[in-house]
Amino acid sequence: MVTLLDQPKMQAILTSLVEGVIIFDLDGRVIVANHVAERIFRTARGTLVGKTMETISPNNGELVAMVDEALLGGKETFTETMLGTHNQVYRVLVRPIKDEQGQLEGTVVVFHDITDIRNFAQVRSEFAGNVSHELRTPLTSIKGFVETLLDGAMGNSDTCRRFLTIIDTETDRLSRLIEDLLTLSSIESKEKLIQPKPVGLARSIRSVINMLGPQISEKDLMVKFIYPPAMPDVHADEDLLGQVLINLLDNAIKYTPIGGVVIIRCKQRESRIIITVTDTGVGIPEDSISRVFERFYRVDKARTRSQGGTGLGLSIVKHIVESHGGQVFVKSEVGKGSTFGVCFLTV
Ligand SMILES: Nc1ncnc2c1ncn2[C@@H]1O[C@H](COP(=O)(O)OP(=O)(O)OP(=O)(O)O)[C@@H](O)[C@H]1O
Ligand SMILES: [Mg+2]
Repeated sequence: MVTLLDQPKMQAILTSLVEGVIIFDLDGRVIVANHVAERIFRTARGTLVGKTMETISPNNGELVAMVDEALLGGKETFTETMLGTHNQVYRVLVRPIKDEQGQLEGTVVVFHDITDIRNFAQVRSEFAGNVSHELRTPLTSIKGFVETLLDGAMGNSDTCRRFLTIIDTETDRLSRLIEDLLTLSSIESKEKLIQPKPVGLARSIRSVINMLGPQISEKDLMVKFIYPPAMPDVHADEDLLGQVLINLLDNAIKYTPIGGVVIIRCKQRESRIIITVTDTGVGIPEDSISRVFERFYRVDKARTRSQGGTGLGLSIVKHIVESHGGQVFVKSEVGKGSTFGVCFLTV
């Protein structure tokens, strides 16, 4: 086996692998280990050779036992375990090596980094859990009011109207939630296909202000729009850019008390255009700031729910902006107001 491994070709193959590989001889000592394996166990080049599994990873009894089982019993095993400095998750396969006559010669241990796969699975399952919860809440409420109506409350026309109004609001919330989920999934599936074109930002912003006109006047807000005289077009998908602006302005309106001020500013910084939406609203507590772009995150669940929020708006903003190669940011102070910013590339 040693002569085979001495061949430069074999070394080249091991070096090119993304998996960590360690080969032990029959005495349980390393005869070869590639770069990746050395990195996993944080050792210098060539220093694993001659060591046993126990000295390489003294705290991982499972791996030591697996190597023993392969060398003593010719048994193949695998496991998932955390290794390395950053709590990476590895799928580890221990396979005995036999010669042509079936005689045991040693064992090979392969380390495959599956951290991303595990993280992805966790995000997905959390997302499914959140979605179910968000759908169940309005449904439970609708069902409750319908049952009360059927149980006799229908006879009183005032009660009947009140309950139907609640049912109407909850149904709207369900529709909005489903619409937001569809937007998210369509951005996700289109991610590679976004076809940006030059878009006149001033026009897009004005049309969003017009669209939200009724909400703005209902709360008696002053909305100002400030932009440089010769602003270049941005490179963006027009509908998605519109969605970003709507979500930001909608929040500024929703979370600012009556009579407040909302300022939309555009600034050019080299090849980027930065759009900020500043309000004089309720602000966001410091410990929530880093979380507002998460799906379903709301600072005050009860209050925003009564305003019909699903907590998806900012996650959609972040997703769209990042899929255009831009970034999002937020500054806020409780009681004073918030500034949300996004940047897009100019044409
Ligand atoms: N301008 C703002 N001022 C204060 N708080 C804000 C502002 N914008 C967002 N937030 C907080 O961040 C949370 C997340 O915002 P996001 O837009 O994602 O969800 P939402 O507004 O609750 O619901 P929707 O999905 O309908 O937009 C909000 O619930 C609110 O607590
Ligand atoms: Mg929102």
